[in-house]
This record gives sequence, structure tokens and C-alpha cells, in this order.
Amino acid sequence: MKELKGPKALFADDVPALDRFGVIVAAMKRVVGRGIWAEFGVGSGKSASWILNSMMSGEEFWLFDSWEGLPEDWQIREGLTVKKGELKKAQPNFRDPRVRYVKGWFDDTVEQTVAHWRQGISFVHVDCDLASSTKTVLEAIQPLIFPGTVFVFDELHGFDEWLRGEWQAFTRWRKTNKIVFDWIAREEPGRDALSAALVIR
Ligand SMILES: C[S@@+](CC[C@H](N)C(=O)[O-])C[C@H]1O[C@@H](n2cnc3c(N)ncnc32)[C@H](O)[C@@H]1O
Repeated sequence: MKELKGPKALFADDVPALDRFGVIVAAMKRVVGRGIWAEFGVGSGKSASWILNSMMSGEEFWLFDSWEGLPEDWQIREGLTVKKGELKKAQPNFRDPRVRYVKGWFDDTVEQTVAHWRQGISFVHVDCDLASSTKTVLEAIQPLIFPGTVFVFDELHGFDEWLRGEWQAFTRWRKTNKIVFDWIAREEPGRDALSAALVIR
């Protein structure tokens, strides 16, 4: 499996390599329709503020987080593990009428919340690091995904333990639900773990 670590093995040459912000913007440009926008893993709100500042439309943007940090250890590579409870941040307070906050563990919040949504999901930012958290999110939002839903995964590849991270949850979910997708962009090397964006076919 080791040879799959490099981006070349995962992405064709024509998938653009951008910085983290560039991947998000490239994904946002591919959004079609007027569905809901959501971020799972908000922390202090860095990526959410990027998205809000670049979002030209008036759709609701739902922000999900415990704001208690990670529920379990996340190993990035030997010698680099983000421990359970790390990444605990204060909940941001965006003065933007599009924003909705959902505070709590995804197991307790996501399924119940999305059950009330009457539209599909246009844009999903998964930034919760762990396979377990990503699995909870993907299974809960599955009924609201449509051809054209755009995903950004913030830690999808480019680190030793990537096969046990968001990628693992995404791959299992994709296979179970027979989901086909096209890459939009990937993050160029530079961080401990790298993002990628894709659109559902
Ligand atoms: C890497 S941080 C998010 C960073 C943020 N998007 C940014 O750009 O600054 C990951 C977040 O995911 C949240 N998280 C991970 N798993 C979770 C779960 N199962 N339920 C709720 N929050 C979770 C953590 O609380 C943490 O705030």
C-alpha cells in the first residue's frame, strides 16, 4: 500500500494541485443548485470564514462541531498523533445570517439535524480528521447527496496513516452506496495531511 501514499498514485496528472484555500475555492466554483452548505469540523472557524467570505450565494451554511476537540486519538504518522481532546476551541461567532451552529458529537447531532432538511446538500466540507467521525457524517447525509454535490475532505491523503483516516471512511461509504465521483483538485504537499475536492457524478 505504501506506493499509494504519493498523490500521483491517487490523482491523474490533470487534477490541479493547489494550496488548501485554493482547493476549497475550486470546489466552491463547482457548486450547482441551491442546496445546503455544511462543514463538519469547524474548530475556531478558519476554513468556515474562508468559505463564508467566498460564498456568493445566500444558502444556509451549517457548522457542526463538538468544540471539545477530537473524540479519539488521530495518528498522522509514527511520532505524530493528535490526542483525544486536542483541538478544543471556542465556538466562533460569525455575524452572518446564513450560518447555523450545531454543537455536539456528530453521533448525537448530524442524523437528527439533517432529517429536518428539505433540500439536498450542495457543498460539504469534511474537516474532522478521523475515520470514525467521517463515517458518521457520510452515513447521515447520504440521503441528501445528489449528482453535483461537492465535497472537500481536509485530510484525505499525503500522510502515512491516510488509509486509516477520512479516506477509509469515504472509500467504504462510496463502495457501499455505489457512488461515482470526479476529482476537482488536490492539495499540493506542504502540510502534515492534505485535502482534496471532488464532485459526485
Ligand atoms: C481540524 S479541526 C477543524 C479545523 C477547522 N475546519 C479550521 O479550518 O480551523 C477538527 C474538528 O473536528 C471536530 N470533531 C472531530 N470529530 C468530531 C465528532 N465526532 N463530533 C463532533 N466534532 C468532531 C473537533 O472538535 C475539531 O474542532
